[in-house]
Amino acid sequence: MPAFGRVAQKYRADDILRPIPISVQPARLSQPCIIHLLNRPDTSCMTAPTQNQTRKPTFIIGAGGHGRVVLDIFNASCSHRVAGFLDSNTEIRGRRIDGVPVLGHPDQLESLAAEHDVAAVIVAIGDNGIRRAMARRIDAAGLSLTNAIHPTATIAHNAVVGRNVVITAGVVVCANCQVGDSVILNTGCIADYQCMIGEGVHVCPGVRLAARVKVEPGAFVGIAATVVPRVCIGYEAVVGAGAVVLDDIPPMATAVGVPARLIRLDAASEEDAAMLLPAFATSPSR
Ligand SMILES: CC(C)(COP(=O)(O)OP(=O)(O)OC[C@H]1O[C@@H](n2cnc3c(N)ncnc32)[C@H](O)[C@@H]1OP(=O)(O)O)[C@@H](O)C(=O)NCCC(=O)NCCS
Repeated sequence: MPAFGRVAQKYRADDILRPIPISVQPARLSQPCIIHLLNRPDTSCMTAPTQNQTRKPTFIIGAGGHGRVVLDIFNASCSHRVAGFLDSNTEIRGRRIDGVPVLGHPDQLESLAAEHDVAAVIVAIGDNGIRRAMARRIDAAGLSLTNAIHPTATIAHNAVVGRNVVITAGVVVCANCQVGDSVILNTGCIADYQCMIGEGVHVCPGVRLAARVKVEPGAFVGIAATVVPRVCIGYEAVVGAGAVVLDDIPPMATAVGVPARLIRLDAASEEDAAMLLPAFATSPSR
């Protein structure tokens, strides 16, 4: 087995640590931070339909477990009025999930969005690759991607959060963190200061990322894993549940255990790197 550090070193170049342009910084002081100041769930929108009707009509793409979590966040935060789910499973079309109808297939997004006067869309699909690809397509089609931030999440005022991001209950994002587009920060995970979390990453419940950890695009950090300071988890890598990661993990590798050891090392091509690494920088939410 190769040592983690040697393989991943070349991906730790400064180009994935792009500084945040000053001009985009005001965008971080948007909705998520305001919501977190309240720091408690507000369920009043579920009982006050007139207030709810003033919220942005929104579609959730994906009516599975993650889609329901996103709906719950919108209900708790009163930030959006969910007009419906879109799901590729045609058998559940017309069904209601927690009171919200499944309106159709994601391929029908543009026509259904026009029909329901939808202002925002969020892709709530657990698979990192599918979520990222779909969000990119929606963005390219000119529809607005939105975030779901639970009111009990705590996000530093100077953290930068991208679009199509889901931050669930009890998450802590510390100072100067960058959270890329289509990231999931799952229940109770912690990102200490200056972490960089790339596009399409899933940080599972209870994970602890120490200061200055980099998680490259598409990586999956399993439930309750711990990552020590400054470690780099390569793009599309998988960290097993409960792992303690002490050294870099190469792109597309799988590491498990305490301390984490490699159990799989898929070949990462220059093409993969060219496609994924430019997406490391965040595009802050509008
Ligand atoms: C890491 C993981 C993806 C590997 O899955 P896999 O590729 O199917 O691997 P296997 O089950 O074939 O296991 C391969 C070996 O690694 C070991 N292993 C797998 N996961 C492990 C873990 N989390 N910790 C320690 N060892 C682990 C297995 O015991 C097995 O060891 P062996 O070869 O000595 O028998 C998976 O086990 C895991 O931890 N997933 C995390 C899921 C999660 O966090 N979900 C939360 C969703 S919100």
